[in-house]
Amino acid sequence: MQFTDAERSALFRLLEWRRDVRHFLPDPVPDALVEDLRCAMDLAPSVGNSRPWRVLSVESAKHRQAVRAIFGEANHRAASAYQGAQLAHYQSLKLEGIEIAPVQLAIFTAQDPQEGAGLGRRSVPQTLEHSTAMAVQNLNLVARSYGLGVGMVSILDPEAMAQLFAVPADWRFSLYLCIGWPQHNDSQPLLHRNGWQQNCQTSWEVV
Ligand SMILES: Cc1cc2nc3c(=O)[nH]c(=O)nc-3n(C[C@H](O)[C@H](O)[C@H](O)COP(=O)(O)O)c2cc1C
Repeated sequence: MQFTDAERSALFRLLEWRRDVRHFLPDPVPDALVEDLRCAMDLAPSVGNSRPWRVLSVESAKHRQAVRAIFGEANHRAASAYQGAQLAHYQSLKLEGIEIAPVQLAIFTAQDPQEGAGLGRRSVPQTLEHSTAMAVQNLNLVARSYGLGVGMVSILDPEAMAQLFAVPADWRFSLYLCIGWPQHNDSQPLLHRNGWQQNCQTSWEVV
């Protein structure tokens, strides 16, 4: 199997426009599309084929409000790491879309899944989290191919998230996803555009 030049260029266009989204329209997302996102996650690679991601679709207002409160507390704590102008800048940033995003997913990772019988993760246990991250990226790319935006939220206390959703003891909170139609699209990261962090040189060395 090999992509044509046109297909490859479409793939790179998708990567470029994948940008994290925090400003959503309230319009609903069709169920069939959400189902496609689920399929996209299930196509991800995982250590030992363990598929450790555990996804909760958060629909109730009660749970969404609770997540927003957990975000508020974590964000307040995070802000205390900054001072002066940088603090003011941090406080001006929009770092979640929990109020509006029509689809919201709480993603957990099973820490000792039976599936895969431990293959591949004995030396680097974080490979379970890496596997979840890959499934999230699959979702992200397929969502963007539909024009949907995905916003990742990690400013949340993992213990509070586990308690809120009363998850099994071996599920560890990984990420919260806000998904919906973006208010606008951009090929630049928002943190780049608002002056927090320019894209840096990444490292790729020959040894
Ligand atoms: C693991 C992970 C966690 C993230 N958590 C947050 C978050 O809590 N709030 C937020 O606004 N953005 C979050 N982001 C989005 C990043 O800020 C964003 O990816 C980065 O600024 C680069 O922008 P881009 O995704 O648009 O290229 C997260 C991204 C990743 C990969």
